[in-house]
Amino acid sequence: MRLDKYLADMNAGTRKELKNGIRKGLAVVDGTVIRDPGYALSGTEKVTYGGREIAYAAYEYYLMNKPAGVISATEDSRQKTVLDLLGEQRRKDLFPVGRLDKDTVGLLLITNDGALSHRLLAPKKHVDKIYFARVTGRVTGEAVDRFAEGVPIGEGIIARPAGLEILEVGEEFSEVRVTIHEGRFHQVKRMFLAIGHEVVYLKRLAMGPLVLDEDLEEGAYRPLTPEELQLLGVD
Ligand code: URA
Repeated sequence: MRLDKYLADMNAGTRKELKNGIRKGLAVVDGTVIRDPGYALSGTEKVTYGGREIAYAAYEYYLMNKPAGVISATEDSRQKTVLDLLGEQRRKDLFPVGRLDKDTVGLLLITNDGALSHRLLAPKKHVDKIYFARVTGRVTGEAVDRFAEGVPIGEGIIARPAGLEILEVGEEFSEVRVTIHEGRFHQVKRMFLAIGHEVVYLKRLAMGPLVLDEDLEEGAYRPLTPEELQLLGVD
């Protein structure tokens, strides 16, 4: 990558300011003053500008409140993806950590950090995922017991014991909070179907230590805060 682009990407100044500054001798690469803005970096060098070390952010992390109607894929020729919501300027190696169904809303982590993604998704890690769900019918204490035991969700699979908290029970619909420790395809929907309820609205509230930021409108996103990065162990 060009030296002036590297510095501009890391917000050391505008491209024009940086070109001038580099020509004046403000940029130092591995101890040598470099006056060529187009100097090619491999990415492993120590770069300072005006005496300040400028480290290149290898990874980016975004918290998105996924809206309904977009798919959790990196690209699709016909359907809008969560990455399309990040706009054209996004770097090209980002991906969503795990999948939410097209009609599911809520917390989605988007990053280019494959190791973190693995840590959060690996079945053996049992990272908690918490969902708010509106389901058909009256959910009772029996459903809580069934979820705690583990319900069969088809193809011979028994879902791991899950937490179910009943928030509100109406004539037609009930509202609940569900905590699962795995992430199978349509997992929450299949668990409710197994006990006779259909999920009509599903929103992810949390994944591991990350909690949905209710200030984010659906479709909006923001970088993770230093505190959130620390919670994820990537600070
Ligand atoms: N469970 C589902 O059924 N759908 C999702 O999008 C996430 C969990």
